[in-house]
Amino acid sequence: MQALVIEGMHPLRGSVPVHGSKNGALPLLAAALLAPGRTVLHHCPRLTDVQTTMEILRHLGAGCGWEGETLWVDASAVTGTAIPEELMRRQRASVLFLGALLARCGEATLSTPGGCALGERPVDLHLSLLRQLGAEVGQQGDRIFCRGAALPGGEAYLPYPSVGATENFLLAAQGCAGPSRLLGAAMEPEIGELAELLRAMGAQIEGVGTPVLTVYPAGALRSAEHTVRADRIEAATLLCAAVSAGGEVELTGVEPSALQPVLDVLWQTGSEIRCTDSSVRLRAPERPRAPERVVTAPWPGFPTDAQAPLMAALLRCRGTAQIREQVFQSRFHHVPELRRMGAAIETDGPLATITGVPSLRGTHLQGCELRGTAALAVAALGAEGESVVTGLEFLDRGYENIKNLLSELGAAIKRVEISPDVVYNRIP
Ligand code: UD1
Repeated sequence: MQALVIEGMHPLRGSVPVHGSKNGALPLLAAALLAPGRTVLHHCPRLTDVQTTMEILRHLGAGCGWEGETLWVDASAVTGTAIPEELMRRQRASVLFLGALLARCGEATLSTPGGCALGERPVDLHLSLLRQLGAEVGQQGDRIFCRGAALPGGEAYLPYPSVGATENFLLAAQGCAGPSRLLGAAMEPEIGELAELLRAMGAQIEGVGTPVLTVYPAGALRSAEHTVRADRIEAATLLCAAVSAGGEVELTGVEPSALQPVLDVLWQTGSEIRCTDSSVRLRAPERPRAPERVVTAPWPGFPTDAQAPLMAALLRCRGTAQIREQVFQSRFHHVPELRRMGAAIETDGPLATITGVPSLRGTHLQGCELRGTAALAVAALGAEGESVVTGLEFLDRGYENIKNLLSELGAAIKRVEISPDVVYNRIP
């Protein structure tokens, strides 16, 4: 079993580039299926979720491979339209293949997707959108079937701005014979990035960044090249790490506008923040101030994916901080682990109240989902003594070698093989 061993209280200093975005790359990989030929994604992160998506693409008959940081997908031949349950279970983003396969092949069969355990995560909004565009959608047990070549399109409505459902709309609409319009679309930067690649492939899309998206039929799409934008959640995690450990860090290759909701909160902690067009520099306060109540919400609200890392950064705050999680039903799995470090956190349904403590102590911390595991590492960086963080299989889904990034910033962190006995005995 692998673990991160972190000795806390070493302030972070220095400058690191941020990797390409996981949530940006996964829909782009599904989009690559829309056009024959070779679609090329530069600055693509090497993550297990990307690896799983490559396995799905290969299963469907597409070729794909790495050339350094560039990932190419050759979708000249799409020979399958069904994704096995084993691949679907590994990550939720695979549901995007519904829209892509419908547009390219006129049919898709897959099973309810898995992903991190964040409470109930249905796909009803995805299926409703596809029905509204004219697709025939059926479900038998866990299997979902969609059919409909050259769908009529028309007007579709989302009662909640689901990121994935909006992406599925953009993908499925590329196969519609008439114009299609989505009311109530999500506005996250990743939607804009997907639209950017689709436009480079020849798609005609209006209203990006607004709640109303319109797609016009544009004929056959062609393969294209794109550079994956920086991961705003990796960037947010590193900034939270700096607030937790102290110090001054610079992140390069980022878009500060995509980080704005996070920067607004970190600024309230007393952090000094300076941005250029492509970098963010943060100087941490000695002890963070509690910000106003943070509420997670769809863009332009505070991102739910940065909730756990932010909580970890606030454990030693002056005063009492509150975080309300209102995107996912159950996203506080990190709280019991943080309490074991001496953190004072009370939860009441979706509300967490954090009373700052003067110090935290290192211990063994077991992660059980992606962002929660990252939060444990963030907390460990600000704790006295050594912490051992396990659950790296979750971390590896969404962070490309975060150990190296933190090491470059001066953290005392190692990735080691550890005996399960050590873990079960809950050291120290
Ligand atoms: C994406 C991100 C994820 C992020 C989330 C919210 C990817 C690969 N993942 O996930 O990291 O945390 O956006 O910013 O980009 N819902 C339904 N029915 C549906 C779809 C969603 O009830 O059919 C609910 C979900 O259970 C959740 C909320 O809507 O409570 C938000 O989900 P959604 O915006 O769809 O998130 P994802 O696209 O899954």
